[in-house]
Amino acid sequence: MNNKVLLTAIISAMVMITSCKEEGKATSIATTNDSNKEITYKGTPISMDFESKIDSLIMEMTLEEKIGMLHGNTMFANKSVERLGIPELTMADGPLGVREEISRTSWAPAGWDNDFATYFPAGGGLAATWNPKLSYVFGNAVGAEARARDKDVLLSPAINIIRTPLGGRTYEYFTEDPFLNKKITVPFVVGVQENDVAACVKHYAANNQETHRDFVDVQIDERTLREIYLPAFKAAVEEAEAYSIMGAYNKFRGDYLCENPYMLDSILRKEWGFKGIVISDWAAVHTTKASLESGTDIEMGTPKPFNEFFFADKLIEAVKNGEVSEDEIDKHVRRILRLMFTLKTVDGKGQKEGSSSTEAHFKDAYDIAAESVVLLKNENNLLPINTSNISSIAVIGNNAIKKNALGGFGAGVKTKIEVTPLEGLQNRLPESVKINFAEGYKEAYKRDEKAKFGDITLNGPVTVNELDENLVNEAITAAKNSDLTIVFAGSNRDYETEASDRANLDLPYGQEELIHQLLEVNPNTIVVFIAGAPFDIKAVSDKSKAVIWTWFNGSEGGNALADVLLGNINPSGKLPWTMPVKLEDSPAHATNSFPGDDTVTYEEGILVGYRWFDTKNIEPLYPFGYGDSYTSFELGDLSINKSEFGEDETIDIKVAVKNTGDWDGKEVVQAYISKPNTSIERATNELKGFTKVEVDQGSTAMAYISIPVKELAFYNTDTKNWEVEKGTYIIKIGNSSRNLTMETSINIL
Ligand code: BGC
Repeated sequence: MNNKVLLTAIISAMVMITSCKEEGKATSIATTNDSNKEITYKGTPISMDFESKIDSLIMEMTLEEKIGMLHGNTMFANKSVERLGIPELTMADGPLGVREEISRTSWAPAGWDNDFATYFPAGGGLAATWNPKLSYVFGNAVGAEARARDKDVLLSPAINIIRTPLGGRTYEYFTEDPFLNKKITVPFVVGVQENDVAACVKHYAANNQETHRDFVDVQIDERTLREIYLPAFKAAVEEAEAYSIMGAYNKFRGDYLCENPYMLDSILRKEWGFKGIVISDWAAVHTTKASLESGTDIEMGTPKPFNEFFFADKLIEAVKNGEVSEDEIDKHVRRILRLMFTLKTVDGKGQKEGSSSTEAHFKDAYDIAAESVVLLKNENNLLPINTSNISSIAVIGNNAIKKNALGGFGAGVKTKIEVTPLEGLQNRLPESVKINFAEGYKEAYKRDEKAKFGDITLNGPVTVNELDENLVNEAITAAKNSDLTIVFAGSNRDYETEASDRANLDLPYGQEELIHQLLEVNPNTIVVFIAGAPFDIKAVSDKSKAVIWTWFNGSEGGNALADVLLGNINPSGKLPWTMPVKLEDSPAHATNSFPGDDTVTYEEGILVGYRWFDTKNIEPLYPFGYGDSYTSFELGDLSINKSEFGEDETIDIKVAVKNTGDWDGKEVVQAYISKPNTSIERATNELKGFTKVEVDQGSTAMAYISIPVKELAFYNTDTKNWEVEKGTYIIKIGNSSRNLTMETSINIL
């Protein structure tokens, strides 16, 4: 070790001790714990801690080299410092799997032939499993795919709360409920990061609509912010130790999220102890000094010359004229280097290799899809289909053949396998059953018109809703000539898309009229909706005997769906959001507070999703947490470890789940709390625990749910603290937010 390095090591060790004391928290971003490891520096093995190595690298870097690391220098990477052996920090979307390679200087696909990936079920599907284990499986598999593609940062998961059913990215996000949100988020992040890949949790925060997302100023009261919109981000940082966070496009209380000291510094870093890096959403930075100093570390963006970014030439200028200090620059460079050492990207030694598009990953995608399908209705046991009684099935609908791995605006996946619903049935049906396919309706748009919500023009297209008579006749003929009809309806990723919200909940392309005609021909028609967000399905649902809801469900989605239809899989998915009867019933619309103009105020406060419907006594079409099964379950024998609890204790709940039907199956037992005699406004019910149990036909299994008393806390805006109100709470247990069949009360002392 030369003198300069030795000196730096000593100084940095002192700095480390001081800064750890100041920050008062441990982190898994590499620091002194790794100090005894042998590290090669420019090819020479040296034993010293990461911090000192980082310090010495920073000492050797020119200002231009440092600033190169703070902004995009290609579409998905910052700038390397080759002479010091610092590679680019490489990034890739995203939530549906690792995105295909994008050109270095434009959004055009790079045209590689080795960038195929597994297409995983979109966020709504994952959340509908209500199975955190599958979330880990997803994260771990997609993390391995990112590593195999040499990506350091995976721009995922996308965890914004679903505030309006119209949201263009509802399909990508998980849920309307903060508790379910964090329970799905944490294992996902852990899974990704076990692969020497950073999860970039997005979009921080209050990015709950696409309309005006580039400038809208979101106003949320403090308690609602803390209790509804932030818990999953907080858990991603505190529990999963997420290595990076993406700053959102919009403003929050007047400041853009990438220059928002309250959100980036006070909450993220000071309160939650975040040690990772903040990456801006693409072109979400609007200033140089304010954005950097409030906590954004890397500015990413759209293709304009990279030196024109706010964190490029303008930042060099700002340092040179004394507006921004070089210490400030070093702070951000240090954070990025710490992450790179943690991910072992600097010398690549011991880094995981990853794997992509493997059979195991396709199986993971299948398992998630299989548990995500929601059975909404099943009268006369129309489902599962008994193939021994039939010789033909009419398969109707554009959605039977529509692929969703790519499509719309935003990140998709280039995959070698995407099994459509029609192919799934072809794969799974016995040869004795003939498929009569007819498309019935076509996906079509009025390309020169833009959708309107009231007076506001949205980015989204207007759908063509007139049916083609020939297609309808073909569909009716197929239905008449078949023993059974399945119609595949819903939407797709061209219609539900980033950058635009939908203007209404209408089923697009005239399909509702088609379904009604098919139901006239054969009342035993099974309706399968494939979509990521709620639609107005009331009329269809009222008339149909069997209704299934499924998602943009990944490479194996068609096989998993066919297995559910045929009874090889007993459905166990539960809605992660409320299906309203009509748009106006939803809180953001009932309060007339979507989409705002320059400003949007979330008038419904904490009453988001089912919290609103329950508290205001509005009947949803299908409630949050709902999903039927081919078997039936009875919940009983509710017991609780005791009835009085202190604040640091845990409520342990035990419930017997009896499978009283004819099929093996899985049930999600859900625990909601309510607080009578409360001193503050509260929702009637709040989800605080759940577990998914597998129960064989005729048997009983025990479901265990543990709720730390701290989970009952509300955010007190006066004391700026989480506080547990003392007194009586009711714990309600059931299998959906509207089917809570047992309850007990506890007392918090
Ligand atoms: C999206 C992000 C995405 C980024 C890069 C933005 O438009 O909001 O979710 O990660 O583009 O593709």
